[in-house]
Formats: sequence, C-alpha cells, structure tokens
Amino acid sequence: MSLNFNLLTLFPDMFPGMLGHSLAGRAHERGDWAFNAIDIRDFATDNHKTVDDTPYGGGAGMVMRADVIESALLSVEKPGRKIYLSPRGKVFNQTLAKELSQEENITLLCGRYEGIDHRVLEAHEFEEISIGDYVLSGGEPAALIMMDACIRLLPGVMGNVDTADNESFGANTGGLLEYPHYTRPAEWTASNGKTYDVPEVLRGGNHADIDKWREEKSLKVTKAVRPDLL
Ligand code: ADE
Repeated sequence: MSLNFNLLTLFPDMFPGMLGHSLAGRAHERGDWAFNAIDIRDFATDNHKTVDDTPYGGGAGMVMRADVIESALLSVEKPGRKIYLSPRGKVFNQTLAKELSQEENITLLCGRYEGIDHRVLEAHEFEEISIGDYVLSGGEPAALIMMDACIRLLPGVMGNVDTADNESFGANTGGLLEYPHYTRPAEWTASNGKTYDVPEVLRGGNHADIDKWREEKSLKVTKAVRPDLL
C-alpha cells in the first residue's frame, strides 16, 4: 500500500520540493508515497485563465473561485480525504499525522490570495487544517509540512523503527517533549572558550539510570516550554 497526495495548487512546481530529498525522497523513489500536483489554473474557462475575483461584501484581496476549484477537484480520480490548508482550521498534530499516514488517498487544497469561496469547501466537505497559529502566504508550505510528518511515519521510511516512538509526541514519551541528545566527543570546547561535558550518566552503561535521567529531562523541558502538554 502507498500513500498518494493529490495537490490542488496554483504552483505545482513547489512539489515535491524538500520532499524530493533525504528520507522522503528515497521513499518516493521506492514508491512508498506518490503525488499528483494539479494546476488549478488549467481549469479556468476564460481566455485570461482567471482563478479569482473580488470578495462579496468588500474588503482587501481576491478570493479563489468555487467553480474553478471544483473542476480541478473533479479531475481527481480518487480524492480520498479532502483537506483545505488554512489558518482557520483545526491545528495539525502528531495524532492527526498518524491518522493521515494510514490513508491511501489525500487531496490537499492549497489556497493563495485572501482565501477560497467557502461554498466549494462546503459542497465537497473539506476538512480545514492549520499547521499553527500564524499566517503563511499560501497553503503549499503547509501542505509540504503535513506531508513530511505523514511520510516519515510510513512503514520502512525511517531507518531505525524505534526512533519515531521515542521522539517528542511519540508513543514512548507520554506526550512529553524529548530529552536532549549527545554524541562524541565526550568533552567539547566551544568557540566561547567553555568546555561542555556529556552528562556522566549517559557515559556509563546503567540503562535504568539513563532512562530515569531522560524522563526527568523530558519532564523538565516540557514544564518549562510547553506546560500545556502536561
Ligand atoms: N495557509 C496560510 N496559513 C496557513 C496555516 N497556518 N496553516 C495552513 N495553511 C495555511
């Protein structure tokens, strides 16, 4: 089984972008995931290839037309789960990434301009998803981020299968942020002249002590930075 993303966008060249590299890139070459970038502008019907118009009720910016977006959507053979990337949406998280990584087809609608005529979202029952409380200039970078979070969870994509469960928000951290990591050299002098040692407990082989130290560090960082997760 593989995960296919249909991308409705005015900028199809933005895909696969960063997902053509590294783990996601190799997974794409193996066929673990696929994408189909559809240029919304190809579905405009006038000579000027118009995809947007001024908003009813007035206000700044332009709104993408429902009819053009619908034609683009109807060109997709198997749309699967339909998602509109928007700062108005439900906030994306690791639970949702896991859920989406188990789908076969996902259609991501990327908006530009001020937004999209709401009627097309309603008529085709799009879910609205935001990647965080800030506004991007378009949905494409948000789509790439969501795709990345899903792709790395696909079976066989990550080299070390344990890794995904141990990281922040993973299954074994109890929903806490992750403990800090260290590698060689054990003693390192930074350009500020200070010498930094790898914590002693990690240099010994006592796994019970190491687990305890890591749990404490996870709890401490979570309390300090993300008390809402506790
Ligand atoms: N489009 C613009 N801002 C966005 C956000 N925060 N999340 C998803 N899509 C967006």
